Formats: sequence, structure tokens, C-alpha cells
Amino acid sequence: MALPFMTADEAAKFVKNGDVVGMGGFTPAGAPKEVPTAIAHMAEALHAEGKPFKIGIYSGASTGDSCDGTLARAHAVEFRTPYQSSKDMRTELNNQGAHYFDMHLSELAQDIRYGFMPKPRIAIIEACQVTENGEIVPTAGVGNMLTFCKLADQIIVELNEAMPATMRGLHDLYEPLDPPMRREIPVYKPSDRIGADCIKVDPKKIVAVVKTNRPNEVGKFAELDETTKKIGANVARFLVGEMKAGRIPASFLPIQSGVGNIANAVLGALGEDKNIPAFEMYTEVIQDSVIGLMKEGRVKFASGCSLTIGADKLQDIIDHMDFFRDKIVLRPQEISNNPEVARRLGLITINTALEADIYGNINSTHVCGTKMMNGIGGSGDFTRSAYISIYTTPSTAKDGAISSFVPMVSHLDHSEHSVKVIITEHGIADLRGKSPIQRANEIIENCVDPVYRPILREYLAHTKTAHTQHNLALATAMHQEFLKSGDMRNTKWDEYMK
Ligand code: COA
Repeated sequence: MALPFMTADEAAKFVKNGDVVGMGGFTPAGAPKEVPTAIAHMAEALHAEGKPFKIGIYSGASTGDSCDGTLARAHAVEFRTPYQSSKDMRTELNNQGAHYFDMHLSELAQDIRYGFMPKPRIAIIEACQVTENGEIVPTAGVGNMLTFCKLADQIIVELNEAMPATMRGLHDLYEPLDPPMRREIPVYKPSDRIGADCIKVDPKKIVAVVKTNRPNEVGKFAELDETTKKIGANVARFLVGEMKAGRIPASFLPIQSGVGNIANAVLGALGEDKNIPAFEMYTEVIQDSVIGLMKEGRVKFASGCSLTIGADKLQDIIDHMDFFRDKIVLRPQEISNNPEVARRLGLITINTALEADIYGNINSTHVCGTKMMNGIGGSGDFTRSAYISIYTTPSTAKDGAISSFVPMVSHLDHSEHSVKVIITEHGIADLRGKSPIQRANEIIENCVDPVYRPILREYLAHTKTAHTQHNLALATAMHQEFLKSGDMRNTKWDEYMK
């Protein structure tokens, strides 16, 4: 059966008002571009005629502007899960123009299979190869596309000619059985391959193939600065200390590293520290810094869900596939982020906090407790199951007007029970085996910006002795001060006692 080649506008017509759509890829890596943009244009035209058009969107994680951005600007989204990082989608969600369900990335595929959420009627995925007998090879990101393709009635493939078919072999596509049949996932080391190199579907389900050659829309990462260099150096110092104390084996343990500028910079700094042996990664996103470290022999192997890297770095991999093929594997997020595997492999997890409190609770998602930033992503998948869970953050944000450390987090993503170590440019707070008041002192004296230390010490002075000391009238005063004057440094506790 010949493949149904057509334009993006023609393919978009398969998508109807009220449909639930599963977008392939993970982050802008491997996310579809042409068809989502065509759907957004179709939605705008229908809205102009006074007709309704909105779809529910599942993805792997964030997508590119041509997907989340265009659909948000067209007000064409009924619901969105599990993660996004687009400015316009963020605005749409925070205005309740679309419902957003923030969830652990490892869980989406199984939750759909379990029937907790509707199955996608249509999957829109990017591929570097699609065959007439229904073999589909992903590109730089896998996400949930294996499950979406299996469950959807119809599949639209964007065949990206900028991504050569030689990428076949980078992927390891495995879906676990559901309970009560599930066994352990047989990944015993990051480089183990347990699945297929392509997705196999009934070719009749492929209703459209749209050719494109658009590059991934991965933005540039911020350069290392003094703060991120110091955070990276402190992470390395902590891990070297753990090795010397015999708490991390001399052969080291696989590393998981989070998303964003800070995580990219911290991993780069960590990789440069020769006191840390060359290491393997079992992670979600493989970001820019990993590729350089791999070429220097500092990263021996990286298992992930996507190559969320700049176009130049991706081209480097494509051009040198013989070098990279046995050093990288891309898996479905259900496997890359699997808590059972994370606990068993003994991952050292390093994620970024938006905000932390003096007791070690972490907010990864909500600015001042209300506005969604991106989502919890895989941070919870890894933190709870880690060998050692580390959170890094610069001690302040917005040129010092925000302290990353507050009395009580304004939203909770990771609790004090799961967070073992917090590291800033000022130092390391090792929270293991410490009571709440010991943790508070450890965090204030080692991690908090010196300007905010007296402010937080004074907070504690306004609390009564208890297991976890709080003054509920003052617990959000620093946030309230930021909303009032734009600067947490102006916090005067007495004013909030009234
Ligand atoms: N209050 C308000 N804004 C804050 C803040 C706070 N406490 N802390 C940081 N910010 C702002 C920064 O100023 C910056 O704003 P800008 O974009 O206007 O410049 C923005 O948040 C991002 O901060 P940045 O320092 O660039 O960090 P980042 O790119 O490393 O992202 C997270 C940090 C927390 C947003 C990001 O790591 C994330 O989304 N984490 C959740 C998902 C996750 O951990 N996934 C890991 C899975 S493996």
C-alpha cells in the first residue's frame, strides 16, 4: 500500500473539534511542527466563522513554538498535559483558557492505558523513516509516541528529511505490560537495550504523511556564569566527598540531570571536574553539555528520552553516527523515567528548584504559589526513587529581589521526605538524618544568600518551639512582600504580625 503523502493543510483536516491528540517527541526534540501549525490556522478560520474548535493535547513533555505556541495563540486547546514550557501556552493555562493537568512524566502512558484518561484518537508524530508496512522510526525525541501510535485510531506522520534514516538504531522502544502482568523492566545498566528499533503499526492507521525539513526548535542554553560554575563546583565537591566517605562506589553511579539552563550548566561544570570519574547517565533529557563531555570521554554513555540539543550539536551526532551510536540510547519516557529502574540502578539525581523552604520542601512549578511555570516534569519520577536526590538553585532570582529560600514553599512538589541535599552557589545543605530545626539551620547557614540569612533567622525567632517551627501568619510574608513592593528584601516581619 502506497504511503498517503499530502500537505499539512490536508492532513490537519483529519483532526476534528473535541479530538484528543497525542503529539510525538519530547521537548522540541522530535515534536511535530507542520501539522500542529496547520491545525492552529484551521482553528483560527473556524473561530472567525463563529464555529467552535478545540482539542485536548497529550505530548511527551514540552514541544516547540510551532506546536504549543501556535495552538495556544489560536485558543485551540481544551486541555493540556503533562508538561509545557511555551510562553504563550503558559499564559493560556494561567488564564484558564485551557485546562492543564501537571503530572509525573513516567505516568502518562500507563494512565491512558489504564483508562484513567481518554485515549488519543489521533497521533501526530515526527519520523526519520516510515515504511509501507507500517514501520516508524522516531527522530531526536521519543516521549510517549509508542503508546500514542498503539492506541490511536489514526496516525499522521511528519517525515522530517533533515533527520536521516541513519538515525535508526538510536532508539530502544519498549512498552511494559500492565499489572498484574508487569515484570521488572530488564534494564540492569544504562546501556542495556530491551526493545525494538522502530514502532510497528497497522499501515492502514497511517492516514497522512507530510514531508518537512524543519529543524527542531530547541532554544539556546545560557552560558556558564559565576553562579552556575560555583553551583557545579559545589555539586562536584559534594559527590567527591561521598566517594571518599565510601557512600558512593569508586566506580560511581549513573547520573540523572534535570531540565533548563541551571541543570545544563551544572552538569557541564560537574563533567569538567576530574575528581569525578567518567560517568554514565540514565536521564530524561540529554542536554547540550552532555555531547561535549561525551566527545571528551567524560560521559561514557547516555540513556535518555530525547536529544534536547542545539541544531549544531544534533548535526554533529548525525554526521558522526558511528561514534555516537553505541554511546546514546533514546527510550520512551515510561522507561527513561521509570521509578522502579531509577531506584534499582541507584541514580544520583540532580534537579533544579524554583523555590525551596528552610525545611527542605521543594516547589518546582508555581511562581508565588499560583502561576504555573512549566510543570513537575520528571523531577518527581527521579527524586523519590533516587540513590541521592540533589536539588540545585541559585540562592536568589530576579537580581536578588527573590530569595529562592522562604519559610514555607508556596506550592509543594517534592517533600522533605524525598529531598536529601540542596546546593547553591554558597554551599551544600546535607539534610540526611536531620530534624526539621537542624535542616533549617543547615539550609540558612550554607545555602541562603547572605542578605537573606538574617531575615530567615528572624523568621525562626518569631516561631514557637515545635517539631516543625512555623508562624502561620508569617509563613508567606516574603511572597506577600514581593507581590507588594517587588522585593523580598523589604520584608519586615512585624508588619505582617498585625
Ligand atoms: N520565583 C519567581 N521566579 C523565579 C524563581 C522564584 N523563586 N526562581 C527562578 N525564577 C525565574 C527566573 O528568574 C527565570 O525567569 P526568566 O525566564 O524571566 O529569566 C525563570 O524562573 C527560569 O529560571 P532559570 O534560572 O533560567 O532556571 P532554569 O532554566 O534552570 O529553570 C526550572 C528552572 C525550575 C523552571 C526548571 O528546571 C523546571 O521547569 N523544572 C521542573 C521540571 C523538572 O525539574 N524537570 C526535570 C526532569 S528530569
